[in-house]
Amino acid sequence: MAVQAARIKSLGTENAFKLGEDIAVCLDRGMDVVKFNLGEPDFDTAPHINRKAIEQIEAGNSHYCDPAGILPFRQAIAKHVSKTRGLDIDPDRVVVTPGAKPPICFSMETYVDPGDEVIYPSPGFPIYESWVTFVGAKPVPLELSEEKGFAFSADDLGELITPKTKLIILNSPSNPTGGVLSKAALEGIARVIRERTRPDVRVYTDEVYEHILFDGEVHNSIASEEGMEEKTVIVSGHSKGFAMTGWRLGWAVLPTKEEAAIFKQLNINIVSCVPPFIQEAGREAYESSETGPAVAKMVSAFERRRNWVVGALNAIPGVTCQNPKGAFYVFPNIAGVCEELGVMSAHRAMPAGAAARTSPSAMFQMFLLYSHGVATLDRNSFGSIGAEGQHFLRLSIATGMDRLEEGVARMRKASVDADGFKEFLDREKLWD
Ligand SMILES: Cc1ncc(COP(=O)(O)O)c(C=O)c1O
Repeated sequence: MAVQAARIKSLGTENAFKLGEDIAVCLDRGMDVVKFNLGEPDFDTAPHINRKAIEQIEAGNSHYCDPAGILPFRQAIAKHVSKTRGLDIDPDRVVVTPGAKPPICFSMETYVDPGDEVIYPSPGFPIYESWVTFVGAKPVPLELSEEKGFAFSADDLGELITPKTKLIILNSPSNPTGGVLSKAALEGIARVIRERTRPDVRVYTDEVYEHILFDGEVHNSIASEEGMEEKTVIVSGHSKGFAMTGWRLGWAVLPTKEEAAIFKQLNINIVSCVPPFIQEAGREAYESSETGPAVAKMVSAFERRRNWVVGALNAIPGVTCQNPKGAFYVFPNIAGVCEELGVMSAHRAMPAGAAARTSPSAMFQMFLLYSHGVATLDRNSFGSIGAEGQHFLRLSIATGMDRLEEGVARMRKASVDADGFKEFLDREKLWD
């Protein structure tokens, strides 16, 4: 007999939130912590969007509403997607969700049976792997390797497609690498999908960072490629691009009205609906002329920080860091530092059980936090299946420049603090 159902053990998590417990311990000890862990803009929501929500609440627009999303907001989403992806989207194919996260679960519930195979990027947003394992599907990580600039080729994808493939997840701009799939890459990927997959296979394209691009890059979607619209679930939302993480506002465009009806039914079963005053504020974000300048201001701040932080990290011996083209993360390789500090040898010396519960990058991550007051995320926080031997950290640069400079200075100090690392292992005993 067990209190918990067996399946709950296969549900993963998002360490960006979970690390809060360790940060709280450090804060309780009186430490100052530079937080590079959470993926959210350090900008507040623009005033015109806030005003719209307040007006709507005061006007009494605070009741249940259409579980698929209010029609004016779905129309605004359909217009935005049609314009930016060169498609003609009917609002009946749009479902509004509380953030861009629920459609991940909804897609697994709608399309994937136990034993089906799901291809997803790794490193990638951890919730993909979490739901794949939870629904009893076979996880098939698509490795984004550093050598290929954290991209993958159409052939890399093609090699993973089998007769059991049911869902293929793409994410561009990418969390955690900041990689962006070019139009040419998407053409090749679409060709492989058209040629090698069954008609009932679905593509899930997570485009929640669509507004956050650097160096004049423009957003491209797999859904715009030939033959893809009818098999692709397009997902995005307001959390990142419009600095609205706490509002919980996202959406999915489904290939058919029938599939949209299932997502609506899932909303009915779980949340009923997204608050209508929040949807009205979301509509304002798409329709107001004040939004463009607010987004541009935020993105140029991220780009300035990116320009500085990549150089500063590469200047730390033992660290190499690529130049992200979008989102607000950097994903440095820390293998050299882990070697120098003795992290690799300490990991090798651990009893098998303890070693399996952690990794060199997780050990360095915790050392950075507990001994130097810098909160980052380790490689395995972005999908752990097949991640052995990869040594990376993710830093969110959605942090003011002064804190960014302070955090990187602490990382530089930590990177030569071999004695401190030994003390940390003896003191904290995190993996005993
Ligand atoms: C790739 C990706 N997809 C989805 C989400 C979830 O976004 P939301 O906060 O809108 O649910 C995130 C948030 O970090 C993300 O990075």
